[in-house]
Amino acid sequence: MTEVLPTRKDCLSLLKDTNCSENVIAHCKAVENLAIKIAKMTDANKELVSRGALIHDIGRGRTHGVKHAYEGAKIAKKLGLPDNIILIIERHIGAGLTKDEAKSVGLPAKDYIPITLEEKIVAHADNLIDENEKKPVAVVVKRFRKLGYNAAADKILALHKELSKICKKDLDSIK
Ligand SMILES: [Fe+2]
Repeated sequence: MTEVLPTRKDCLSLLKDTNCSENVIAHCKAVENLAIKIAKMTDANKELVSRGALIHDIGRGRTHGVKHAYEGAKIAKKLGLPDNIILIIERHIGAGLTKDEAKSVGLPAKDYIPITLEEKIVAHADNLIDENEKKPVAVVVKRFRKLGYNAAADKILALHKELSKICKKDLDSIK
C-alpha cells in the first residue's frame, strides 16, 4: 500500500474510469473547493483534503444508495490508493454511521465515523454542498429531520459546531 497521494488529475481520471457521471464529478469538485477553504483555516493536510474530497464519491459509479461510501472504499482499496484516502471515502456519510446504524442499513457492522480532521472536513463539506451549491447547515439539518433521521441531523450539527470552533468562524459564513 503506497502512501503517495494521487494527483488531482489522477483523481478526476479515476472518477471517469469508474463510471461516475459528469454531475457526480462536478459535485466532487464543489466539495473539494469548500473542503480546501475549511482546511486552510486549520492545520489539516491540505493535499489530503483536496484529493480525499475530489474522490470521496467514487462509489457513485456503482450505487447512489447509502452503501456508495463503503463500495467506494472497496474500489479505492482495489486501485491501491493510500489508507488515509480510503478512510475519507468510507467515513463520509453525513457525520458518520455508528456500528448499529451501519448494521441497520445492511453494511458490515463496524463504525464509519470520521475520526481525523481531514475525514471530518471532507464529510462536512459534503454535507454542506447540495449538488454544486453550498447550503446553510440549518437547511441540511432540516432535510434530515424531515426524513426522520434525527440522530444523523444531531451529529451533522455537532460536527458543524466542532469544525466552526476549530476554524474560529461559523462555516455558514464561508462563501
Ligand atoms: Fe457521498
